[in-house]
Amino acid sequence: MIDLLRKNPTRSSPLRKGMEKALPTDTDSRFQLLRVEEMPFLQMEPVYSGQVQSTLSRLVEERQNLGVLLEAGLEPTRTVLFSGPPGVGKTLGARWVARELGLPLMILDLSAVMSSYLGRTGSNLRHVLDYAKSIDCVLLLDELDAIAKRRDDSGEIGELKRLVTVLLQQLDDWPSSGLLIAATNHSDLLDPAVWRRFEQLVDFELPKEAEIRAFL
Ligand SMILES: Nc1ncnc2c1ncn2[C@@H]1O[C@H](COP(=O)(O)OP(=O)(O)OP(=O)(O)O)[C@@H](O)[C@H]1O
Ligand SMILES: [Mg+2]
Repeated sequence: MIDLLRKNPTRSSPLRKGMEKALPTDTDSRFQLLRVEEMPFLQMEPVYSGQVQSTLSRLVEERQNLGVLLEAGLEPTRTVLFSGPPGVGKTLGARWVARELGLPLMILDLSAVMSSYLGRTGSNLRHVLDYAKSIDCVLLLDELDAIAKRRDDSGEIGELKRLVTVLLQQLDDWPSSGLLIAATNHSDLLDPAVWRRFEQLVDFELPKEAEIRAFL
């Protein structure tokens, strides 16, 4: 039966090929580290300011016209940092980009991983990033400041340094086949070495009257 299903999958899915590999789990608890939205779905279309909308659209267009870029010797944007206050549509923006690109969205909530698995977070993070790299997807590192915010807690500094190191290495050699988006409420709290490495910064702001009207 399983063989039959493998040969004749009932539904076409961009992840099908990559899914032959098991999703990364925490080594001890087997807790699944990544949340996967195979076909991202939005209940309502987001409304953003002109600046944010045009940046998000450009990210999508770059990948839809990959051939033209490559011919000109250019690569699409690989790493993006979304920052802004809570509830302005950062997570939603990542889902929108993934849907426009027809790619699965993989979400790693760093605050959840940090709180439960500190001590193993470095290896978990490396594991997740290696996995996401091997699949055409949009990877969202949500609540990135969970790493930065905890710096004041001296007991955890060693582990945090390791985490930041893992992240820096991965950001530097992220493949252009995938798109890594990180989201934070506090870009000012982030280690400068981290945010400098993102190729594109997107500042989400609270909606102004025009956006609220458009949304309504
Ligand atoms: N620009 C927007 N246009 C339309 N709806 C929005 C927008 N921003 C937020 N929303 C609504 O608010 C909800 C919360 O947004 P979202 O989770 O993307 O915020 P966030 O910026 O990721 O917040 P946090 O920093 O707390 O994670 C969305 O599911 C959506 O319903
Ligand atoms: Mg969010």
